[in-house]
Amino acid sequence: MRIEKREEKCSECMLCVRDCVMGVWRNVGGKSRVVDLDLCNCCSHCIAVCPCDAIIHDGLKKEEITPVNRKNLNPDVYRDIITSRRSIRQFKNEPVPREIIEKILDVSRYAPTASNSQDIGYIIMTDKHLIEKTAGGIFGLASRLFNKTKNRTGRLLLDLTGLSQNRYLKVMSYVQEQNAQTGRDFILHNAPVLILIHAPKNKPFACDDCNIAAGTIINYAHTLGLGTCFLGLLTLVLRWRGKIRRELHVPRGRRVYAALAMGYPAYQFTNTVSRKKPEVDWV
Ligand SMILES: Cc1cc2nc3c(=O)[nH]c(=O)nc-3n(C[C@H](O)[C@H](O)[C@H](O)COP(=O)(O)O)c2cc1C
Repeated sequence: MRIEKREEKCSECMLCVRDCVMGVWRNVGGKSRVVDLDLCNCCSHCIAVCPCDAIIHDGLKKEEITPVNRKNLNPDVYRDIITSRRSIRQFKNEPVPREIIEKILDVSRYAPTASNSQDIGYIIMTDKHLIEKTAGGIFGLASRLFNKTKNRTGRLLLDLTGLSQNRYLKVMSYVQEQNAQTGRDFILHNAPVLILIHAPKNKPFACDDCNIAAGTIINYAHTLGLGTCFLGLLTLVLRWRGKIRRELHVPRGRRVYAALAMGYPAYQFTNTVSRKKPEVDWV
């Protein structure tokens, strides 16, 4: 990798030095200098902050680094995006074009990652049969476990563990009935697209990186008229069940930290929602 400064363009404003948190750029005798190339994590900050276009960095794609359009940064629009997004659990039976999914993944690249590792992978599932099979498998597993709680020993176990009041257990009979009568999929919501977001297993901040990308996706997808829903249950099951991991092509050594259902909403939400005030301590 090569990072160079075009002396003829540099104004020695030192913004590259001030902004470089890795200590690659330093002030050496009043001049900005690349001191240790190996420290660079290719965050692009030096190039992005330079007002003189004085930096050449061949680890980056220069054509992607474009002027910021501040006029488009509208807080009211952003607030509306956030407050109008809902988890969508009823989708139109309509595929999402591949170009649209690619457009979404192109934006999620800009979500931050710890140490700028950018080590996030996506599995995009659009195979209806595989999605149905996965939902059926997980629902079958949950049903079998639930049925075990109905006998005397099961009930005793629930009482002892305090799980008898668990709201997911309490709703399970209804869920089973609905699934049998209407085929409603309470696990993956009959979604036309699933997005599994993975990163190296047990790497610090891997879970954070994936979920920040997921958060970026849900909001951007919403602006494109798409609905999404986090699938925490699928994420959990993928952690426990190697068979499902293999069926969904999760690469070895990687873990799915976030999973989303995505598709065109079957209907629109007319209103925003009520939320609790957060607990905030000002220190
Ligand atoms: C980490 C996480 C996991 C979730 N897992 C599920 C899930 O497995 N199934 C589901 O239907 N919704 C799931 N949700 C959606 C939440 O229930 C939903 O975000 C919450 O009720 C607020 O509703 P809203 O997203 O419409 O604002 C999950 C949300 C998050 C953040």
